[in-house]
Amino acid sequence: MRIALFSAKPFDREFFDRANARHRHEIVYFEPGLDAATAGLAAGFACVCPFVNDRLDKPAVEALAAGGTRLLALRSAGFNHVDLDAAAERGITVARVPAYSPHAVAEHAVGLLLTVNRKLHRAAARVRDHNFALDGLMGFDLHGKTVGLVGTGRIGEAFARIMLGFGCTVIASDPNPDDELARLGVRYVGLHDIFERSDVVSLHCPLTPETHHLISDHALARMKPGVVILNTSRGAVIDTRAVIRALKAGRLGGLGIDVYEEEGDLFFRDLSDRALQDDVLARLLTFPNVVVTAHQGFFTREAMDAIAEITLANATAFERGSIPAANLVSVQVHVVNPA
Ligand code: NAI
Repeated sequence: MRIALFSAKPFDREFFDRANARHRHEIVYFEPGLDAATAGLAAGFACVCPFVNDRLDKPAVEALAAGGTRLLALRSAGFNHVDLDAAAERGITVARVPAYSPHAVAEHAVGLLLTVNRKLHRAAARVRDHNFALDGLMGFDLHGKTVGLVGTGRIGEAFARIMLGFGCTVIASDPNPDDELARLGVRYVGLHDIFERSDVVSLHCPLTPETHHLISDHALARMKPGVVILNTSRGAVIDTRAVIRALKAGRLGGLGIDVYEEEGDLFFRDLSDRALQDDVLARLLTFPNVVVTAHQGFFTREAMDAIAEITLANATAFERGSIPAANLVSVQVHVVNPA
């Protein structure tokens, strides 16, 4: 197929060109993000490949349809950036990559935990400055501590297994408990228990109306003083302003996040020579016990290989009229916001 790949970064070219040696589509890489203003670039491309922060609202979808697009091959699991009704109306098929490497995200969450707890971000900067003092760098043993997970799907399960290996007590909340994890010693409890008993709370649930701002003033007030909170799921699971209040009050031990509720206009871009316009993120970045990464949990060679391969395989399958059902997105699917 002729594929217009938007928000293209050098790493996209590398992985998609490699996977395309097998699929032999014609890929044209466009650096701009995809929205109604740039959709015209895709005229004549039957397949369009957007990324998570591209904006496929109704005008954009209609412009794509007018240009002959028949397949939106999302290179993400999430599809909250697509107006699915508009796509259905215009007869555009929407496919996605439902799962790539859960280990990539789980291991990144562990990285955030170790960084926040042992203050590695500060330690490395200090040593670079030839400051070899240890004051202020003390952490705690993870061994023997209680880690509370919200969500034990693919990523939560991988994270739970790593934490069990660290010698932690792992408790979890999920409407669909995992029997294998329970057999390994993970105890399923209510959210109330997760908040009250955990030394570390890690979020691995999707963003749904139910999980929106799950970490609220109310939830934070019930947590142990010094708790570390990790978020590699979706930004809006955390009420950022509530977390800032808890950080200011000194109630949080630390915060490690790879996602942020207003990340859409910031992440995946180099804005280092401009004034940061987001005052909430700017405040968050002032706390010494906060580590923010810019949605890089998926960013491993293995995950990128899988994303490129599955995205192009969706295009190949579309041509043959046989996209696997699990990779198709329909308006009936109710998961609001996976990454
Ligand atoms: P999954 O679908 O395998 O697992 C999600 C789990 O959350 C399921 O077991 C589900 O039952 C559970 N869940 C749903 N509602 C819940 C609730 N109210 N309370 C507790 N648990 C609930 O998804 P997967 O692949 O494990 O992804 C988890 C999250 O990670 C998603 O939100 C996704 O957006 C995010 N993600 C982040 C990436 C990154 O680069 N930071 C990359 C890929 C995914």
